[in-house]
Amino acid sequence: MTKISIKVGNPLKQKTPCLVLPAYEGRLKQTFSELDSLLAGRLQKVFRSREFTGKAGEMLLLHSSDGGLCERFLLVGLGLKKQTTVSGLRSLASQVANYLSERHIGRCLIDTNTLQHRKGGELEALGAITEGLLLAGYRFDNYREKVTDSLVPLLAAGLLISSSRDKAKAEAAVCMAEAICHGICRARDLVNLPGNHKSPQVLAETAQQIAKDHGLRCRLLPRAELEKQGFGALLGVAQGSVRDPYLIVLEYHGGTKDERPVALVGKGVVFDAGGISLKPSDKMDEMKMDMAGAAAVLGAVQTVAELKLPVNLVVVVPAVENLPSGTAYRPGDILTSLSGKTIEVLNTDAEGRLILADALTWVGQYKPRVVIDLATLTGACIIALGNQASAVLGNHEGLIRELIKAGERCGERLWQLPLWEEYSAQIKGDFGDIKNTGGRAAGTITAAAFLQQFADDYTWAHLDIAGTAWADKSTAGSPKGGTGVGVRVLVEYLKGQC
Ligand code: BES
Ligand code: MN
Ligand code: ZN
Repeated sequence: MTKISIKVGNPLKQKTPCLVLPAYEGRLKQTFSELDSLLAGRLQKVFRSREFTGKAGEMLLLHSSDGGLCERFLLVGLGLKKQTTVSGLRSLASQVANYLSERHIGRCLIDTNTLQHRKGGELEALGAITEGLLLAGYRFDNYREKVTDSLVPLLAAGLLISSSRDKAKAEAAVCMAEAICHGICRARDLVNLPGNHKSPQVLAETAQQIAKDHGLRCRLLPRAELEKQGFGALLGVAQGSVRDPYLIVLEYHGGTKDERPVALVGKGVVFDAGGISLKPSDKMDEMKMDMAGAAAVLGAVQTVAELKLPVNLVVVVPAVENLPSGTAYRPGDILTSLSGKTIEVLNTDAEGRLILADALTWVGQYKPRVVIDLATLTGACIIALGNQASAVLGNHEGLIRELIKAGERCGERLWQLPLWEEYSAQIKGDFGDIKNTGGRAAGTITAAAFLQQFADDYTWAHLDIAGTAWADKSTAGSPKGGTGVGVRVLVEYLKGQC
């Protein structure tokens, strides 16, 4: 990973292969008047000819001719100041990192003074830049014989600030962003891992590794234990695969002893073929991502532990594989869940809500202050929101508001869907207490209404990340594949709790 450091001083007195100068559209002259005298008016010319206007994503590389301290200057357009966002800035930083590595420039210094970010937003901006630079270097190439792209990764970037008074805070913001990126990359790696290398046991071992590295407590409930305790819904899904299911639990104690924990629950379907209600083969390969909820909560707890945030957390991942086979559960089966409620299976492809039902029931014993589950739960969510936002639903408006606000702060958008009582009519059972599908109408909502039946003892929110967990196309900072969505918003929410 790129080494990021904070530097204090005058941008024009630094020795660097490349000084990166971000600039807002329409403010070029003010921003660069001092610098331009050094460059003998070359910037004026570039601005006048409109070679560089400051539009978001515009870049212009200039070489210094006088053998001065800076070998090059890279002008970077930020767009109009009032239109800049955290995710925009993050993406620009990724674009800068890519631009430099394509040109074999391994080190740079970024002048953050020109950002003149809105008050209080300086640290936010430093965090966004750090994340963008680090995530631009993310690759999943564990499964290539030879790494083909010849990019020279950006080795080191200094972030230049003007006053040494702000140095400690700036360094803390960089550390925070680094920890978030470690969590995001952990989540991406897990999602990108192919199904043949990603059994429930592999997820369990990953959790054990995280526990070992960060001093957490890890509990694994194997099949026999799940049978003993009566995880009938989870076991129903698992019975089609020869791979053993696990309930994976991580406990992080950063808060006071008597403080009730926040519980994070993540759907961990390592591969979702749909079971007997088999999915079409087109794009079925992408269903290795059906454990992105699990990846998000594991990534988040890793980050929280790395940052030593003063909260208590319990992370629960029901991990199974959903396959059709001679032992698989069938449409029409009635499962007895851990809660005692019976569930009529109408469609074996609505498996996520089944394993989550038991996980949500089980986590109740921790008397959690708040429970948040993340799941790639419904295709309907992609129809509703596309890839731009995750859906949020729950039984507590205050919690939903806080999550949405945390999402706005960190650039992971959440959009609330209603969970009105009337929707639950769609999942009332004919032969059991509830059925696992509610028809085509309002698919994301009826899935949440199903979960709600198992979450009525506590304050609960559900994030459907079906549309946001996987990128079909590469963008700066996020190559095709797992996005690591969820880590940021969970960490941002938890920071707000401390
Ligand atoms: N894992 C899928 C949802 C999904 C689809 C996630 C596409 C990401 C991309 C889930 O298990 C599922 O199959 N849901 C069904 C539910 C239906 C049978 C009620 C769906 O959305 O079609
Ligand atoms: Mn499914
Ligand atoms: Zn699924």
